[in-house]
Amino acid sequence: MKQTLMSTYKESASSTLEQATCLPLAVYHDPSVFDAEMRGVFLNDWVFACAETTLVNAGDYFALDIAGEPIAIIRGQDTELRALSNICRHRGTPLLDLGFGQIAKNIACPYHAWTFDDTGTFKGAPLTGDIIIDKQEHCLPSFAIASWNGLVFVNLSDSPRPFSEKIEGLDGYLSLFELERFSHAHQMSAEHWNSNWKLAVENGIESYHLFKVHKETLETSTPSKQAYYVSGNAEWSLTGGAIKDDRGALSKWLSGSYPEAYNHYLLLFLPPSLIAVVTYEGLNWIQVLPEGPEHCAITPGGLSEQPVKDFKSSEFQFTEAFLSEDREICERVQRGMHSRMSKGGKLVRLEKILVDFHQYLANRLFQTATDEFVETVQAARFYREQED
Ligand code: FES
Ligand SMILES: [Fe+2]
Repeated sequence: MKQTLMSTYKESASSTLEQATCLPLAVYHDPSVFDAEMRGVFLNDWVFACAETTLVNAGDYFALDIAGEPIAIIRGQDTELRALSNICRHRGTPLLDLGFGQIAKNIACPYHAWTFDDTGTFKGAPLTGDIIIDKQEHCLPSFAIASWNGLVFVNLSDSPRPFSEKIEGLDGYLSLFELERFSHAHQMSAEHWNSNWKLAVENGIESYHLFKVHKETLETSTPSKQAYYVSGNAEWSLTGGAIKDDRGALSKWLSGSYPEAYNHYLLLFLPPSLIAVVTYEGLNWIQVLPEGPEHCAITPGGLSEQPVKDFKSSEFQFTEAFLSEDREICERVQRGMHSRMSKGGKLVRLEKILVDFHQYLANRLFQTATDEFVETVQAARFYREQED
């Protein structure tokens, strides 16, 4: 039975847009599918963790769970950024609290005070009597880490592929936005949704639902009809859209000296966990991390030229408003995933980005070939694929 579900999943995830339907509903709640995704995706690929500028000083750390694996990203005294296992090598206690924090040079376990330095090296254990503890054997494992445009990614695989391989062809599209200007970062606290992680991802990347779910919010500034597919493959995708400048947010960039493109946004999807909207004003992300077959953590954050001073500003209220609309619809859809009477229907052109995501899943889970699905990266930076 499980095998049948996995083969239906494989077949569905490998479809082209012309054949594509929604994935089989059961893959949005089945525990064995969830386990396979944790092993094949989150423990085996580059996962977005946080912004690098939030970890500037020696001792700054950010602790998060990736597929149930506690990880701490720490800026060492030697200025290096490392991703360490956040699990004590004695009896498995998580060492640092989740979220941002600061350590002095060493990390002491809250249980029996075994101590590690900020590179993961075992330093000592109190009250061990005549028992000898092998220092080499008791260091914290470290993982591959990459920083790209101010964003930090971690790969928990034993043999991680180079990060550069994953983002090949992407930089040319983003250069227009001069991301190096965005030297400040902010990150909100995580929300916990009753939704499979893939539902939250699919909802976060497609613009088809804006006109219905976000009628009073996103649709007023970035309407569904003005959204278009830019480029993508089974590793990353870009969609875009026109920004109606109702809020005056972009008017300062539209004095005539900037190209028309600056009145557009790009939505960057770097699976499995990063969904980012890039405008000339900043890069705002939503990070999606699974917390169980029917639960995920959603963390919004962003990069900008100036530090954020007012988290109660209309911009943040706007984000809060559309995210609560997204949460409501994702949790509603999750309830539908248990139906045995229904199966997934046809995807439409505005959902083309879901096909890229499904190809990504197929490659990670079933090692399907990518070549025939990879879209050639066009020299043209923005183009409309859909008819107006
Ligand atoms: S579990 Fe960490 S010191 Fe005992
Ligand atoms: Fe949405």
